[in-house]
Amino acid sequence: MTNIFKIYDNGIVANNNAFIEIFAGEIHALAGENGAGKSTLMKILYGLEKPTSGQIYLNGHEVKITSPLVANSFGIGMVHQHFMLVNELTVAENIFLGQEITKNFMIDRKKTKEAVVKLAEKFGMSIDPEEKVGNLSIVQKQKVEILKVLARNAKIIIFDEPTAVLTPQETQEFFTQLELLKKQEYTIIIITHKLKEIKQICDRITIMKNGRFIGMFDVNALSEAEISRLMVGRDIVQEVNKPSRKRGDIVLTVNHLSKITSSGKMLLNDVSFTCRQGEIVCLCGVEGNGQRELVDIITGFDQDYSGQVMIKNQNINKKTIKQIRDMGESHIPEDRTLYGVDLASSIADNLISIALTDVSNGIFINKKRVEEVSEEGIKNYQIKCENAAQKVEMLSGGNMQKVVVARETRKTPSLLVANQPTRGVDIGAIEFIHKKIVDLSCDKTAVLLVSSDLSEVFRLADKIIVFYAGKIVAKITNVSEITEEELGLYMLGLKSMDEVQDV
Ligand SMILES: Nc1ncnc2c1ncn2[C@@H]1O[C@H](COP(=O)(O)OP(=O)(O)OP(=O)(O)O)[C@@H](O)[C@H]1O
Ligand SMILES: [Mg+2]
Repeated sequence: MTNIFKIYDNGIVANNNAFIEIFAGEIHALAGENGAGKSTLMKILYGLEKPTSGQIYLNGHEVKITSPLVANSFGIGMVHQHFMLVNELTVAENIFLGQEITKNFMIDRKKTKEAVVKLAEKFGMSIDPEEKVGNLSIVQKQKVEILKVLARNAKIIIFDEPTAVLTPQETQEFFTQLELLKKQEYTIIIITHKLKEIKQICDRITIMKNGRFIGMFDVNALSEAEISRLMVGRDIVQEVNKPSRKRGDIVLTVNHLSKITSSGKMLLNDVSFTCRQGEIVCLCGVEGNGQRELVDIITGFDQDYSGQVMIKNQNINKKTIKQIRDMGESHIPEDRTLYGVDLASSIADNLISIALTDVSNGIFINKKRVEEVSEEGIKNYQIKCENAAQKVEMLSGGNMQKVVVARETRKTPSLLVANQPTRGVDIGAIEFIHKKIVDLSCDKTAVLLVSSDLSEVFRLADKIIVFYAGKIVAKITNVSEITEEELGLYMLGLKSMDEVQDV
Protein backbone atom coordinates (compact mmCIF):
# COMPACT_ATOMS: atom_id res chain seq x y z
CA MET A 1 0.00 0.00 0.00
CA THR A 2 1.64 3.25 -1.06
CA ASN A 3 0.88 6.96 -0.72
CA ILE A 4 -2.23 6.21 1.29
CA PHE A 5 -4.12 9.25 2.51
CA LYS A 6 -7.32 9.03 4.47
CA ILE A 7 -9.10 12.17 5.50
CA TYR A 8 -12.35 11.43 7.33
CA ASP A 9 -15.45 13.55 6.70
CA ASN A 10 -14.77 15.59 9.81
CA GLY A 11 -11.36 16.58 8.45
CA ILE A 12 -9.27 14.23 10.57
CA VAL A 13 -6.22 13.00 8.71
CA ALA A 14 -5.95 9.39 9.81
CA ASN A 15 -3.46 8.26 7.17
CA ASN A 16 -0.93 10.74 5.90
CA ASN A 17 1.11 9.21 3.11
CA ALA A 18 1.06 5.82 4.81
CA PHE A 19 2.99 2.87 3.43
CA ILE A 20 3.11 -0.82 4.19
CA GLU A 21 4.64 -3.76 2.37
CA ILE A 22 3.82 -7.33 3.26
CA PHE A 23 5.65 -10.45 2.09
CA ALA A 24 3.75 -13.61 1.31
CA GLY A 25 3.77 -16.06 4.20
CA GLU A 26 5.12 -13.71 6.85
CA ILE A 27 3.68 -12.52 10.12
CA HIS A 28 3.88 -8.76 9.97
CA ALA A 29 3.30 -6.47 12.97
CA LEU A 30 1.71 -3.07 12.58
CA ALA A 31 2.45 -0.90 15.60
CA GLY A 32 2.11 2.69 16.77
CA GLU A 33 0.41 4.85 19.37
CA ASN A 34 -3.34 5.07 19.88
CA GLY A 35 -4.78 7.01 16.98
CA ALA A 36 -1.71 6.50 14.75
CA GLY A 37 -3.96 5.25 11.96
CA LYS A 38 -3.33 1.49 12.10
CA SER A 39 -6.96 0.35 12.09
CA THR A 40 -7.78 2.85 9.37
CA LEU A 41 -5.01 1.57 7.10
CA MET A 42 -6.18 -2.00 7.56
CA LYS A 43 -9.82 -1.07 7.03
CA ILE A 44 -8.75 0.41 3.72
CA LEU A 45 -7.01 -2.84 2.79
CA TYR A 46 -10.19 -4.70 3.69
CA GLY A 47 -12.41 -2.35 1.69
CA LEU A 48 -14.26 -0.99 4.71
CA GLU A 49 -12.94 2.52 4.28
CA LYS A 50 -12.25 4.24 1.01
CA PRO A 51 -8.85 5.92 0.87
CA THR A 52 -8.87 9.60 -0.06
CA SER A 53 -5.98 8.72 -2.37
CA GLY A 54 -3.28 6.09 -2.75
CA GLN A 55 -2.56 2.75 -4.37
CA ILE A 56 -2.78 -0.87 -3.33
CA TYR A 57 -0.77 -3.52 -5.16
CA LEU A 58 -1.40 -7.22 -4.84
CA ASN A 59 1.27 -9.49 -6.31
CA GLY A 60 2.52 -6.53 -8.31
CA HIS A 61 -0.83 -5.54 -9.80
CA GLU A 62 -2.78 -2.49 -8.74
CA VAL A 63 -6.15 -3.38 -7.27
CA LYS A 64 -9.17 -1.34 -6.22
CA ILE A 65 -10.67 -2.75 -3.05
CA THR A 66 -14.04 -1.08 -2.90
CA SER A 67 -15.79 -3.33 -0.37
CA PRO A 68 -15.15 -6.26 1.98
CA LEU A 69 -16.71 -8.50 -0.66
CA VAL A 70 -14.10 -7.38 -3.15
CA ALA A 71 -11.42 -7.88 -0.48
CA ASN A 72 -12.71 -11.44 0.06
CA SER A 73 -12.51 -12.07 -3.68
CA PHE A 74 -8.83 -11.10 -3.50
CA GLY A 75 -8.33 -13.47 -0.57
CA ILE A 76 -8.13 -10.77 2.10
CA GLY A 77 -9.94 -11.23 5.42
CA MET A 78 -10.04 -9.26 8.66
CA VAL A 79 -10.75 -9.92 12.33
CA HIS A 80 -11.74 -6.63 13.88
CA GLN A 81 -10.75 -4.86 17.09
CA HIS A 82 -14.36 -4.96 18.22
CA PHE A 83 -15.91 -8.23 17.12
CA MET A 84 -18.62 -8.10 14.48
CA LEU A 85 -20.74 -11.13 15.27
CA VAL A 86 -24.49 -11.51 15.62
CA ASN A 87 -25.13 -12.73 19.16
CA GLU A 88 -28.58 -14.11 18.36
CA LEU A 89 -27.28 -16.42 15.64
CA THR A 90 -25.43 -19.70 16.07
CA VAL A 91 -21.74 -20.23 15.44
CA ALA A 92 -22.43 -21.90 12.10
CA GLU A 93 -24.86 -19.20 11.00
CA ASN A 94 -22.33 -16.50 11.83
CA ILE A 95 -19.55 -18.25 9.97
CA PHE A 96 -21.59 -18.56 6.81
CA LEU A 97 -23.49 -15.30 7.12
CA GLY A 98 -23.88 -13.79 3.67
CA GLN A 99 -22.67 -16.92 1.88
CA GLU A 100 -25.17 -19.41 3.19
CA ILE A 101 -25.02 -22.99 2.01
CA THR A 102 -28.45 -23.59 0.50
CA LYS A 103 -30.58 -26.36 -0.86
CA ASN A 104 -33.78 -25.54 -2.75
CA PHE A 105 -33.35 -21.88 -1.72
CA MET A 106 -33.32 -22.84 1.96
CA ILE A 107 -30.36 -22.85 4.30
CA ASP A 108 -28.97 -26.35 4.45
CA ARG A 109 -28.35 -26.67 8.20
CA LYS A 110 -26.77 -30.08 8.01
CA LYS A 111 -24.26 -29.12 5.34
CA THR A 112 -23.50 -25.84 7.11
CA LYS A 113 -22.79 -27.66 10.33
CA GLU A 114 -20.59 -30.20 8.60
CA ALA A 115 -18.65 -27.48 6.85
CA VAL A 116 -17.96 -25.74 10.19
CA VAL A 117 -16.81 -28.95 11.86
CA LYS A 118 -14.51 -29.71 8.95
CA LEU A 119 -13.07 -26.21 8.88
CA ALA A 120 -12.52 -26.15 12.64
CA GLU A 121 -10.78 -29.51 12.50
CA LYS A 122 -8.47 -28.39 9.73
CA PHE A 123 -7.28 -25.53 11.91
CA GLY A 124 -7.21 -27.43 15.17
CA MET A 125 -10.07 -25.59 16.87
CA SER A 126 -12.85 -27.05 18.93
CA ILE A 127 -16.16 -25.25 18.74
CA ASP A 128 -19.83 -26.19 18.90
CA PRO A 129 -21.44 -25.09 15.60
CA GLU A 130 -24.92 -24.94 17.14
CA GLU A 131 -24.18 -22.78 20.17
CA LYS A 132 -25.55 -19.22 20.10
CA VAL A 133 -22.69 -16.78 19.73
CA GLY A 134 -24.08 -14.67 22.57
CA ASN A 135 -23.30 -17.52 24.98
CA LEU A 136 -19.67 -17.81 23.96
CA SER A 137 -16.63 -16.57 25.85
CA ILE A 138 -14.36 -14.01 24.24
CA VAL A 139 -11.80 -16.57 23.03
CA GLN A 140 -14.50 -18.67 21.46
CA LYS A 141 -15.94 -15.61 19.74
CA GLN A 142 -12.53 -14.89 18.35
CA LYS A 143 -12.35 -18.43 17.00
CA VAL A 144 -15.67 -17.85 15.25
CA GLU A 145 -14.27 -14.67 13.71
CA ILE A 146 -11.20 -16.54 12.48
CA LEU A 147 -13.29 -19.36 11.05
CA LYS A 148 -15.52 -16.82 9.36
CA VAL A 149 -12.49 -15.38 7.61
CA LEU A 150 -11.14 -18.80 6.69
CA ALA A 151 -14.54 -19.86 5.35
CA ARG A 152 -14.27 -17.02 2.87
CA ASN A 153 -11.01 -18.50 1.60
CA ALA A 154 -8.80 -15.67 2.81
CA LYS A 155 -5.07 -16.13 2.35
CA ILE A 156 -4.13 -12.79 3.85
CA ILE A 157 -5.59 -12.35 7.31
CA ILE A 158 -5.58 -9.07 9.18
CA PHE A 159 -5.92 -9.15 12.97
CA ASP A 160 -6.67 -5.90 14.78
CA GLU A 161 -5.39 -6.29 18.35
CA PRO A 162 -6.35 -9.95 18.62
CA THR A 163 -4.65 -10.56 21.97
CA ALA A 164 -5.99 -7.49 23.77
CA VAL A 165 -8.88 -9.57 25.05
CA LEU A 166 -6.97 -12.80 25.69
CA THR A 167 -5.33 -14.15 28.82
CA PRO A 168 -1.63 -15.11 28.60
CA GLN A 169 -2.52 -18.77 28.17
CA GLU A 170 -5.05 -18.00 25.48
CA THR A 171 -2.55 -15.77 23.75
CA GLN A 172 -0.09 -18.63 23.53
CA GLU A 173 -2.84 -20.84 22.12
CA PHE A 174 -3.67 -18.18 19.58
CA PHE A 175 -0.01 -17.94 18.58
CA THR A 176 0.14 -21.69 18.04
CA GLN A 177 -2.83 -21.16 15.75
CA LEU A 178 -0.99 -18.42 13.88
CA GLU A 179 2.11 -20.59 13.47
CA LEU A 180 -0.14 -23.26 12.02
CA LEU A 181 -1.60 -20.77 9.55
CA LYS A 182 1.88 -19.57 8.64
CA LYS A 183 2.95 -23.16 7.97
CA GLN A 184 -0.01 -23.47 5.63
CA GLU A 185 1.31 -20.39 3.80
CA TYR A 186 -1.17 -17.86 5.05
CA THR A 187 -0.02 -14.28 5.31
CA ILE A 188 -0.74 -12.56 8.60
CA ILE A 189 -0.88 -8.90 9.54
CA ILE A 190 -1.30 -8.23 13.22
CA ILE A 191 -1.89 -4.92 14.95
CA THR A 192 -0.70 -5.01 18.55
CA HIS A 193 0.57 -2.84 21.39
CA LYS A 194 2.39 -5.69 23.06
CA LEU A 195 6.09 -5.58 22.35
CA LYS A 196 6.80 -8.99 23.82
CA GLU A 197 4.33 -10.53 21.39
CA ILE A 198 5.90 -8.75 18.45
CA LYS A 199 9.25 -10.20 19.45
CA GLN A 200 7.80 -13.64 19.96
CA ILE A 201 5.69 -14.15 16.87
CA CYS A 202 6.40 -11.58 14.16
CA ASP A 203 8.91 -11.60 11.33
CA ARG A 204 8.82 -7.92 10.40
CA ILE A 205 7.29 -4.77 11.83
CA THR A 206 5.94 -1.53 10.40
CA ILE A 207 5.68 1.43 12.73
CA MET A 208 3.24 4.31 12.22
CA LYS A 209 2.92 7.66 13.94
CA ASN A 210 0.34 10.38 13.28
CA GLY A 211 -0.87 8.58 10.19
CA ARG A 212 2.62 8.40 8.72
CA PHE A 213 5.03 5.60 7.94
CA ILE A 214 7.96 5.69 10.36
CA GLY A 215 9.83 2.58 9.32
CA MET A 216 9.83 -1.10 8.50
CA PHE A 217 12.24 -3.49 10.21
CA ASP A 218 13.17 -7.08 10.78
CA VAL A 219 11.89 -7.78 14.27
CA ASN A 220 15.18 -9.45 15.20
CA ALA A 221 17.05 -6.27 14.43
CA LEU A 222 15.23 -4.22 17.09
CA SER A 223 15.03 -4.44 20.86
CA GLU A 224 11.76 -3.81 22.72
CA ALA A 225 13.15 -0.49 23.90
CA GLU A 226 14.00 0.53 20.34
CA ILE A 227 10.51 -0.35 19.15
CA SER A 228 8.89 1.74 21.88
CA ARG A 229 11.21 4.65 21.17
CA LEU A 230 10.26 4.56 17.49
CA MET A 231 6.56 4.46 18.42
CA VAL A 232 6.43 7.08 21.12
CA GLY A 233 9.51 9.15 20.39
CA ARG A 234 10.89 8.81 23.91
CA ASP A 235 11.98 6.17 26.38
CA ILE A 236 9.18 4.42 28.23
CA VAL A 237 9.54 3.64 31.89
CA GLN A 238 8.07 0.21 32.34
CA GLU A 239 8.58 0.10 36.08
CA VAL A 240 6.26 2.21 38.21
CA ASN A 241 7.66 3.95 41.19
CA LYS A 242 5.45 2.63 43.94
CA PRO A 243 6.10 4.45 47.20
CA SER A 244 5.24 2.56 50.35
CA ARG A 245 1.80 3.61 51.43
CA LYS A 246 0.06 3.31 54.74
CA ARG A 247 -2.80 0.90 54.65
CA GLY A 248 -5.81 2.63 56.15
CA ASP A 249 -9.32 1.54 57.00
CA ILE A 250 -11.08 -1.27 55.22
CA VAL A 251 -13.10 0.12 52.29
CA LEU A 252 -14.37 -3.03 50.59
CA THR A 253 -15.44 -6.14 52.45
CA VAL A 254 -16.53 -9.22 50.58
CA ASN A 255 -17.98 -11.74 52.99
CA HIS A 256 -18.87 -15.37 52.19
CA LEU A 257 -20.05 -14.44 48.74
CA SER A 258 -21.54 -17.23 46.64
CA LYS A 259 -23.40 -17.35 43.42
CA ILE A 260 -25.07 -20.36 41.91
CA THR A 261 -26.74 -20.52 38.50
CA SER A 262 -30.27 -21.85 38.14
CA SER A 263 -28.75 -25.06 36.79
CA GLY A 264 -26.70 -25.43 39.98
CA LYS A 265 -23.28 -24.32 38.79
CA MET A 266 -21.16 -22.61 41.48
CA LEU A 267 -19.85 -19.44 39.87
CA LEU A 268 -18.62 -18.02 43.18
CA ASN A 269 -17.93 -20.27 46.10
CA ASP A 270 -17.67 -18.67 49.55
CA VAL A 271 -15.43 -15.79 48.55
CA SER A 272 -14.13 -13.49 51.32
CA PHE A 273 -11.54 -10.75 51.21
CA THR A 274 -10.99 -7.09 52.00
CA CYS A 275 -9.45 -4.10 50.32
CA ARG A 276 -8.13 -1.19 52.39
CA GLN A 277 -7.40 2.45 51.77
CA GLY A 278 -4.13 2.81 49.94
CA GLU A 279 -4.02 -0.81 48.90
CA ILE A 280 -3.95 -2.25 45.38
CA VAL A 281 -5.53 -5.69 45.38
CA CYS A 282 -5.26 -7.66 42.13
CA LEU A 283 -7.68 -10.38 41.19
CA CYS A 284 -5.98 -12.99 39.03
CA GLY A 285 -7.31 -16.01 37.28
CA VAL A 286 -7.91 -17.53 33.92
CA GLU A 287 -11.03 -15.98 32.42
CA GLY A 288 -14.24 -17.68 33.47
CA ASN A 289 -13.22 -18.53 37.03
CA GLY A 290 -15.50 -16.08 38.79
CA GLN A 291 -13.75 -12.72 38.46
CA ARG A 292 -16.37 -11.28 36.14
CA GLU A 293 -19.27 -12.43 38.35
CA LEU A 294 -17.56 -10.88 41.37
CA VAL A 295 -17.08 -7.53 39.65
CA ASP A 296 -20.70 -7.58 38.44
CA ILE A 297 -21.85 -7.96 42.04
CA ILE A 298 -19.51 -5.36 43.53
CA THR A 299 -20.55 -2.80 40.93
CA GLY A 300 -24.28 -3.44 41.33
CA PHE A 301 -24.94 -5.03 37.94
CA ASP A 302 -25.90 -8.29 39.58
CA GLN A 303 -28.02 -8.52 42.73
CA ASP A 304 -28.63 -12.23 42.78
CA TYR A 305 -26.16 -13.76 45.25
CA SER A 306 -25.70 -14.87 48.81
CA GLY A 307 -23.26 -13.32 51.27
CA GLN A 308 -22.41 -9.66 51.70
CA VAL A 309 -20.51 -6.92 49.98
CA MET A 310 -19.84 -3.82 52.03
CA ILE A 311 -18.38 -0.50 51.11
CA LYS A 312 -17.20 1.37 54.16
CA ASN A 313 -19.36 -0.90 56.34
CA GLN A 314 -22.49 -0.24 54.32
CA ASN A 315 -24.13 -3.21 52.67
CA ILE A 316 -24.64 -2.64 48.94
CA ASN A 317 -27.40 -5.22 48.69
CA LYS A 318 -30.44 -3.86 46.77
CA LYS A 319 -28.59 -0.63 45.99
CA THR A 320 -28.68 0.65 42.42
CA ILE A 321 -25.56 1.22 40.38
CA LYS A 322 -26.00 4.96 40.89
CA GLN A 323 -26.35 4.57 44.67
CA ILE A 324 -23.20 2.45 44.76
CA ARG A 325 -21.36 5.11 42.78
CA ASP A 326 -22.58 7.70 45.24
CA MET A 327 -20.96 5.65 48.00
CA GLY A 328 -17.62 6.48 46.38
CA GLU A 329 -17.11 3.65 43.93
CA SER A 330 -15.65 4.17 40.46
CA HIS A 331 -15.67 1.49 37.81
CA ILE A 332 -13.62 0.97 34.68
CA PRO A 333 -15.58 -1.82 32.95
CA GLU A 334 -14.04 -4.60 30.96
CA ASP A 335 -15.99 -3.96 27.79
CA ARG A 336 -15.69 -0.31 26.93
CA THR A 337 -18.09 -0.21 24.01
CA LEU A 338 -20.80 -2.07 25.89
CA TYR A 339 -20.67 -0.39 29.32
CA GLY A 340 -17.86 2.13 29.26
CA VAL A 341 -18.89 4.85 26.85
CA ASP A 342 -21.92 6.04 24.98
CA LEU A 343 -20.58 5.85 21.45
CA ALA A 344 -23.12 8.23 19.96
CA SER A 345 -22.40 11.01 22.47
CA SER A 346 -19.59 13.51 22.50
CA ILE A 347 -16.36 13.13 24.44
CA ALA A 348 -17.49 15.98 26.71
CA ASP A 349 -20.83 14.33 27.50
CA ASN A 350 -19.10 11.06 28.24
CA LEU A 351 -16.57 12.71 30.50
CA ILE A 352 -19.12 14.66 32.54
CA SER A 353 -21.85 12.03 32.60
CA ILE A 354 -21.00 11.07 36.17
CA ALA A 355 -20.00 14.56 37.25
CA LEU A 356 -23.20 16.49 36.70
CA THR A 357 -23.10 18.04 40.14
CA ASP A 358 -19.67 19.46 39.32
CA VAL A 359 -20.85 21.19 36.20
CA SER A 360 -24.32 22.38 37.08
CA ASN A 361 -26.14 24.26 39.78
CA GLY A 362 -28.83 21.61 39.91
CA ILE A 363 -30.93 23.24 37.22
CA PHE A 364 -28.65 24.56 34.52
CA ILE A 365 -25.51 23.08 33.10
CA ASN A 366 -22.58 25.43 33.20
CA LYS A 367 -21.14 25.17 29.70
CA LYS A 368 -17.86 26.75 30.62
CA ARG A 369 -17.35 24.26 33.43
CA VAL A 370 -18.15 21.38 31.05
CA GLU A 371 -15.49 22.70 28.72
CA GLU A 372 -12.96 22.99 31.52
CA VAL A 373 -13.59 19.47 32.78
CA SER A 374 -13.41 17.95 29.32
CA GLU A 375 -10.36 19.94 28.23
CA GLU A 376 -8.61 18.80 31.38
CA GLY A 377 -9.44 15.13 30.68
CA ILE A 378 -8.34 15.38 27.06
CA LYS A 379 -5.09 17.07 28.03
CA ASN A 380 -4.17 14.88 30.99
CA TYR A 381 -4.88 11.64 29.19
CA GLN A 382 -3.71 12.80 25.78
CA ILE A 383 -6.97 11.75 24.17
CA LYS A 384 -6.32 12.11 20.47
CA CYS A 385 -9.27 14.07 19.07
CA GLU A 386 -10.26 17.23 17.28
CA ASN A 387 -12.20 18.70 20.20
CA ALA A 388 -14.46 17.68 23.07
CA ALA A 389 -17.57 17.87 20.88
CA GLN A 390 -16.38 14.99 18.73
CA LYS A 391 -18.41 11.80 19.01
CA VAL A 392 -16.71 8.97 20.88
CA GLU A 393 -17.46 6.49 18.08
CA MET A 394 -14.99 8.37 15.92
CA LEU A 395 -12.12 7.81 18.32
CA SER A 396 -9.59 5.04 17.92
CA GLY A 397 -10.03 2.06 20.27
CA GLY A 398 -7.33 3.09 22.72
CA ASN A 399 -8.61 6.64 22.88
CA MET A 400 -12.09 5.40 23.79
CA GLN A 401 -10.48 3.54 26.68
CA LYS A 402 -8.72 6.73 27.76
CA VAL A 403 -12.09 8.52 27.92
CA VAL A 404 -13.36 5.88 30.36
CA VAL A 405 -10.26 5.98 32.52
CA ALA A 406 -10.19 9.79 32.55
CA ARG A 407 -13.81 9.94 33.70
CA GLU A 408 -13.46 7.30 36.40
CA THR A 409 -10.25 8.63 37.91
CA ARG A 410 -10.89 12.36 37.67
CA LYS A 411 -11.85 12.57 41.31
CA THR A 412 -10.28 10.46 44.00
CA PRO A 413 -12.80 7.63 44.58
CA SER A 414 -12.95 5.64 47.81
CA LEU A 415 -12.93 2.45 45.79
CA LEU A 416 -11.76 2.01 42.23
CA VAL A 417 -12.77 -1.20 40.50
CA ALA A 418 -10.54 -1.33 37.45
CA ASN A 419 -11.26 -4.22 35.11
CA GLN A 420 -8.54 -4.58 32.47
CA PRO A 421 -7.85 -0.83 32.59
CA THR A 422 -5.05 -0.81 30.02
CA ARG A 423 -6.63 -3.09 27.45
CA GLY A 424 -5.85 -1.74 23.99
CA VAL A 425 -3.98 1.36 25.11
CA ASP A 426 -0.50 2.15 23.88
CA ILE A 427 2.65 1.86 25.96
CA GLY A 428 2.81 5.58 26.70
CA ALA A 429 -0.75 5.57 28.00
CA ILE A 430 -0.14 2.40 30.02
CA GLU A 431 2.70 4.19 31.79
CA PHE A 432 0.33 7.08 32.54
CA ILE A 433 -2.59 4.93 33.75
CA HIS A 434 -0.32 2.89 36.01
CA LYS A 435 1.02 6.05 37.56
CA LYS A 436 -2.53 7.32 38.01
CA ILE A 437 -3.57 4.13 39.83
CA VAL A 438 -0.57 4.36 42.14
CA ASP A 439 -1.22 8.07 42.77
CA LEU A 440 -4.84 7.32 43.67
CA SER A 441 -3.74 4.64 46.10
CA CYS A 442 -1.30 7.13 47.66
CA ASP A 443 -4.35 9.33 48.02
CA LYS A 444 -6.10 6.60 50.02
CA THR A 445 -8.19 5.05 47.25
CA ALA A 446 -8.70 1.31 47.69
CA VAL A 447 -8.01 -0.24 44.30
CA LEU A 448 -9.44 -3.54 43.12
CA LEU A 449 -7.65 -4.39 39.90
CA VAL A 450 -8.72 -7.22 37.63
CA SER A 451 -6.09 -7.90 35.04
CA SER A 452 -5.06 -10.73 32.79
CA ASP A 453 -1.79 -8.97 32.04
CA LEU A 454 0.63 -10.52 34.51
CA SER A 455 3.30 -7.88 34.06
CA GLU A 456 0.66 -5.33 35.06
CA VAL A 457 -0.25 -7.42 38.08
CA PHE A 458 3.35 -7.69 39.25
CA ARG A 459 3.96 -4.02 38.67
CA LEU A 460 0.98 -2.78 40.68
CA ALA A 461 -0.23 -5.36 43.18
CA ASP A 462 0.20 -5.08 46.93
CA LYS A 463 -1.82 -8.23 47.30
CA ILE A 464 -2.80 -10.86 44.74
CA ILE A 465 -5.94 -12.93 45.06
CA VAL A 466 -6.13 -15.93 42.76
CA PHE A 467 -9.43 -17.35 41.59
CA TYR A 468 -9.97 -20.85 40.35
CA ALA A 469 -13.40 -22.40 39.71
CA GLY A 470 -15.15 -19.61 41.62
CA LYS A 471 -12.98 -20.05 44.71
CA ILE A 472 -10.06 -18.15 46.11
CA VAL A 473 -7.13 -20.57 45.93
CA ALA A 474 -4.40 -18.18 47.05
CA LYS A 475 -3.88 -14.83 48.72
CA ILE A 476 -0.40 -13.55 48.16
CA THR A 477 0.97 -10.62 50.12
CA ASN A 478 4.69 -11.01 49.42
CA VAL A 479 4.22 -10.20 45.75
CA SER A 480 7.92 -9.61 45.09
CA GLU A 481 8.77 -13.14 46.20
CA ILE A 482 6.43 -15.03 43.92
CA THR A 483 7.33 -15.95 40.34
CA GLU A 484 5.11 -15.83 37.27
CA GLU A 485 5.40 -19.61 37.04
CA GLU A 486 4.14 -20.13 40.58
CA LEU A 487 1.26 -17.74 40.01
CA GLY A 488 0.44 -19.69 36.86
CA LEU A 489 0.18 -22.91 38.88
CA TYR A 490 -2.41 -21.32 41.16
CA MET A 491 -4.31 -19.90 38.19
CA LEU A 492 -4.50 -23.28 36.50
CA GLY A 493 -5.72 -24.93 39.70
CA LEU A 494 -2.59 -27.08 39.97
CA LYS A 495 -1.69 -25.64 43.34
CA SER A 496 -3.64 -24.05 46.16
CA MET A 497 -2.87 -22.69 49.58
CA ASP A 498 -3.95 -25.06 52.34
CA GLU A 499 -5.44 -22.34 54.36
CA VAL A 500 -6.28 -19.11 52.61
CA GLN A 501 -5.75 -16.64 55.44
CA ASP A 502 -7.57 -13.39 55.47
CA VAL A 503 -4.84 -10.82 55.09
N1 LIG B 1 -15.04 6.89 11.52
C1 LIG B 1 -14.19 7.87 11.85
N2 LIG B 1 -14.51 9.17 11.64
C2 LIG B 1 -13.66 10.15 11.96
N3 LIG B 1 -12.44 9.98 12.48
C3 LIG B 1 -12.04 8.71 12.71
C4 LIG B 1 -12.90 7.59 12.43
N4 LIG B 1 -12.24 6.47 12.77
C5 LIG B 1 -11.04 6.85 13.25
N5 LIG B 1 -10.92 8.20 13.21
C6 LIG B 1 -9.75 8.98 13.64
O1 LIG B 1 -8.65 8.60 12.85
C7 LIG B 1 -7.45 8.53 13.62
C8 LIG B 1 -6.81 7.17 13.47
O2 LIG B 1 -7.65 6.21 14.07
P1 LIG B 1 -7.36 4.65 14.03
O3 LIG B 1 -8.55 3.99 14.60
O4 LIG B 1 -6.91 4.25 12.67
O5 LIG B 1 -6.12 4.55 15.06
P2 LIG B 1 -5.34 3.28 15.62
O6 LIG B 1 -3.91 3.43 15.24
O7 LIG B 1 -6.01 2.04 15.21
O8 LIG B 1 -5.43 3.50 17.22
P3 LIG B 1 -5.69 2.45 18.46
O9 LIG B 1 -4.36 1.89 18.82
O10 LIG B 1 -6.20 3.31 19.57
O11 LIG B 1 -6.69 1.46 18.01
C9 LIG B 1 -7.85 8.87 15.05
O12 LIG B 1 -7.51 10.22 15.28
C10 LIG B 1 -9.35 8.69 15.07
O13 LIG B 1 -9.97 9.58 15.97
MG1 LIG C 1 -7.12 0.58 16.26
